[in-house]
Amino acid sequence: MDKKADTNFPIHDLLANRWSPRSFDPEYILDDQQINSLMEAARWAPSCRGEQPWKFILFNKSDATMFSQALNCLSVSNQDWAMDTALLVLTCTNRFYRHNQQENGYAHYDCGAAAENICLQATSMGLAAHQMGGFSKDKARELTQVPSNYDILSFVAIGKPLNLDETRDELKERESAERNRLPLQEIYSFNKF
Ligand SMILES: Cc1cc2nc3c(=O)[nH]c(=O)nc-3n(C[C@H](O)[C@H](O)[C@H](O)COP(=O)(O)O)c2cc1C
Repeated sequence: MDKKADTNFPIHDLLANRWSPRSFDPEYILDDQQINSLMEAARWAPSCRGEQPWKFILFNKSDATMFSQALNCLSVSNQDWAMDTALLVLTCTNRFYRHNQQENGYAHYDCGAAAENICLQATSMGLAAHQMGGFSKDKARELTQVPSNYDILSFVAIGKPLNLDETRDELKERESAERNRLPLQEIYSFNKF
């Protein structure tokens, strides 16, 4: 479904077309090439000192057992729609620099940039990505054995978005709701806060 951003000023189509749907084709499976492209996009994100602190743990629907265990980490309201996606990506970031084990104050910032690259790459491929904070980090850590020097940040659910007429009735209202943003003038200023 197309929910292109209604912008006051022109932005790139890729940015305007990215959004976070909940209506996905439950039969759709991603192939290796698509998955590799999504990860390649993450790989080329910028990072402080070129540290690349991110690590992504993938759950492919083609492995039904592991996919359902990852789904089980999500809040019930997220499970309700994420079960129809094809890939769940757990995003993690190393809190420490590799070269000196000092705290990396940009680890979260960098992983967020890489996650957005994944979302935009998905959009460019006719897919959609929906990020989630609504999940149990404890359950995810236990499932994936992420070491304690890595923070677990989010899940990103990726799949083939459906049109409104193909959408389950209970999702229709939410899917067609208007997209809102703060007024442009509120989010930036020159020279002083
Ligand atoms: C870090 C993060 C956590 C989010 N958590 C959830 C979530 O748990 N469940 C959900 O349905 N959407 C979640 N979202 C999606 C946001 O609600 C969505 O990005 C926001 O409303 C803007 O809508 P848009 O992405 O369609 O432009 C999350 C997004 C981000 C970036």
